[in-house]
Amino acid sequence: MTEQNAAPQNGAEQQKKTVFSGVQPSGKLTLGNYLGALRNWPAMQEENRCIFSVVNLHSITVRQDPAALRRQTLEVLAQYIACGIDPEKSLLFIQSHVPAHAELAWVLNCYTMFGELSRMTQFKDKSQRYADNINAGLFTYPVLMASDILLYQTDLVPVGQDQKQHVEIARDIAQRFNGVYGPVFAIPEPLIQGPGAKIASLAEPTKKMSKSDQNQNAFVLLMDKPEDIMRKFKRAVTDSGSQVVRGEGKDGVNNLIAIYSAAAGCSPEQTEAEFAGKGYGEFKQAVGEAVVEVLRPVREQTERLLADKAYLEQVYAEGARQAARAAERTLEKVYKKVGFVKKPF
Ligand code: TRP
Repeated sequence: MTEQNAAPQNGAEQQKKTVFSGVQPSGKLTLGNYLGALRNWPAMQEENRCIFSVVNLHSITVRQDPAALRRQTLEVLAQYIACGIDPEKSLLFIQSHVPAHAELAWVLNCYTMFGELSRMTQFKDKSQRYADNINAGLFTYPVLMASDILLYQTDLVPVGQDQKQHVEIARDIAQRFNGVYGPVFAIPEPLIQGPGAKIASLAEPTKKMSKSDQNQNAFVLLMDKPEDIMRKFKRAVTDSGSQVVRGEGKDGVNNLIAIYSAAAGCSPEQTEAEFAGKGYGEFKQAVGEAVVEVLRPVREQTERLLADKAYLEQVYAEGARQAARAAERTLEKVYKKVGFVKKPF
């Protein structure tokens, strides 16, 4: 953390970095979300000031079923906790509970250019995919994400590769604003974690694993039952070869080796050595079992937490209070800088 980036802190707190990340509650989390993101976050909370949000304001840029959105919001919150994020150590909250996100987003919209938003690859992709609903929110989505990050004087943003461009625009917006008004925002950096490559579809391994795939066997969900996981891996597409080694054009096997290594906590070389001389059938069975075992405690704990709504409510209520307090400090500075008359209450 550089002098200029430092949020006002004191004593031992000064060493701590602020980490912020968010997960959208639109749809179910996949094995890819878990291996690439959630699984790596609990370790960060020991050394840093961690803030994790269920970003439901982002979700409505695409049409949602209201009841499903409400249910999935609590499910993501429960999954955060089930993955090991401790509400006593990290700040956990639901984005729509903290109005400062929408408020800062409006201000930052006025410091973000049409041209730079037009270049965002996710906007280009989504406006193709949802061609009948290219709404303004979809276009300014990165500004809302920048607001999430900048409100908390964030230093580090753990995200998947696909969100790197959004963290970069958050940096650009922060630098632009600071350039005009002085050091208001810390300048965040992306932190890309997880298995080197993206987890691919089990059915068409040249494509990314996606929960919106028509083929249910293409993806594994965090909440899938063991028998479903086993079935999906049994059907996973491989190739006409027979050896469990990585290679050019062996997308299916490469993907399964990446998944096994991530799930079993070993290197791809170790995986190849372990399965030397064994066939694809046996290997797929082993990958399925490894994935079942990593996901089992998360699924079981999520189910227990979802049965305890009072506890979840207590977590998100306290989270909202603390997040609002921190966010208000930044928002107040911003409002003052741009020339708004101080709020009377
Ligand atoms: N756009 C992110 C995604 O779809 C979610 C997100 C919203 C986020 N706000 C954020 C991630 C702030 C990190 C920081 O994955």
